[in-house]
Amino acid sequence: MTTITVQHVTKHFHQTIGDGTETRKVAALDNVSLKVASGSVLAILGPSGCGKTTLLRCIAGLEHPDSGAILYDHADLRDIPLQERGIGMVFQDGALMPHWEAEKTVGFFMWLRHRESEVPERVARISQITGIGLDKLMPRKPSQLSGGEKQRVAIARALTRDPKVFLFDEPFSSLDAKLRANARIELKKLLHEFPVTSIYVTHDQQEAITLAHRIAVMRAGQIEQIGTYRDLYYNPLNLFVATFFGTPTINLFDGVIQSHHWQGENFGGYPVRGDLDDGTGVTLGVRPEAVLLSDDGVAARVESVIPFFAERHLLLELTAGRERWHMTVPESTPVKVGSTIHMAFDPDGIHCFDSKTGRRIG
Ligand SMILES: Nc1ncnc2c1ncn2[C@@H]1O[C@H](COP(=O)(O)OP(=O)(O)O)[C@@H](O)[C@H]1O
Ligand SMILES: [Mg+2]
Repeated sequence: MTTITVQHVTKHFHQTIGDGTETRKVAALDNVSLKVASGSVLAILGPSGCGKTTLLRCIAGLEHPDSGAILYDHADLRDIPLQERGIGMVFQDGALMPHWEAEKTVGFFMWLRHRESEVPERVARISQITGIGLDKLMPRKPSQLSGGEKQRVAIARALTRDPKVFLFDEPFSSLDAKLRANARIELKKLLHEFPVTSIYVTHDQQEAITLAHRIAVMRAGQIEQIGTYRDLYYNPLNLFVATFFGTPTINLFDGVIQSHHWQGENFGGYPVRGDLDDGTGVTLGVRPEAVLLSDDGVAARVESVIPFFAERHLLLELTAGRERWHMTVPESTPVKVGSTIHMAFDPDGIHCFDSKTGRRIG
């Protein structure tokens, strides 16, 4: 199997602006480095336009970096002939041949190699692992397949080629929520049975958590942090990662340092790192589950109460003065909109960020 290494890759595009006479240079990728261990799955997570597709296309060899290198094991991608790269790709729209039955699409690569007799067995194996009847889809053309079925055919096509590397670009983003949840569980089972080195681009954090061993969070052409979902959730390196990862979103509270303690508008008195000067601006990040009911804590008005059945808790929206934040409480907690409740932070659930740079400082 293959280890993928991306070394300091930078890629610019020239875009025309205004009436088309002017161009500007956009850094789609800015010094990106990462490694995907053989047989593991890396998710690339980030907002639209941050460079995910460009990175995947560079790794596929469809786009050429301005500088930096991409290695498959120890070989530079540029030195590996196209037919030996062994890349399986699945795009957002499936990109199936419109006039071909699924059978032909899935078996084409094997047919080229005079091995089409192996196709039915592979289709049966994929059906068995995913628990979906792929064989029923085989006689159909793309116009006779739903969005979810097209993506299953595209994944089967990629898998029957024995890829060394599997690249996915938001393959389920056009499916509705329920279909998407099922499709990602099927894909997870497939990736478990066929442990191909994979990169999975998405803007959906649940998808990244479900499918990937590690997640790279991207912003504006750069990788902000790579780690397991636990690393990203419990040890975000900056405010972007902290606020991008986690639902409901982390609460942020602005404040300043006063004699080694953090003081905000409503909350305060929390001890912080000893080397910060008085007056330093520090933003506290506190996840909703780290705001705890406390009789002698800060008083706030309950603005809304939202039940989360699956987790058996209520999400409360609170306000006091100019601040607004969220907390979770057990579903049996008697709490009404408009009432006042008291709370404090769990000292173990406080993340400190430099308010100016957004970088984590404690
Ligand atoms: N072929 C292209 N020509 C010009 N600009 C491009 C091209 N492809 C991507 N870009 C620009 O590069 C940036 C990253 O795009 P992309 O990689 O598609 O992001 P994402 O997949 O995260 O939405 C965007 O600003 C986009 O407009
Ligand atoms: Mg994209």
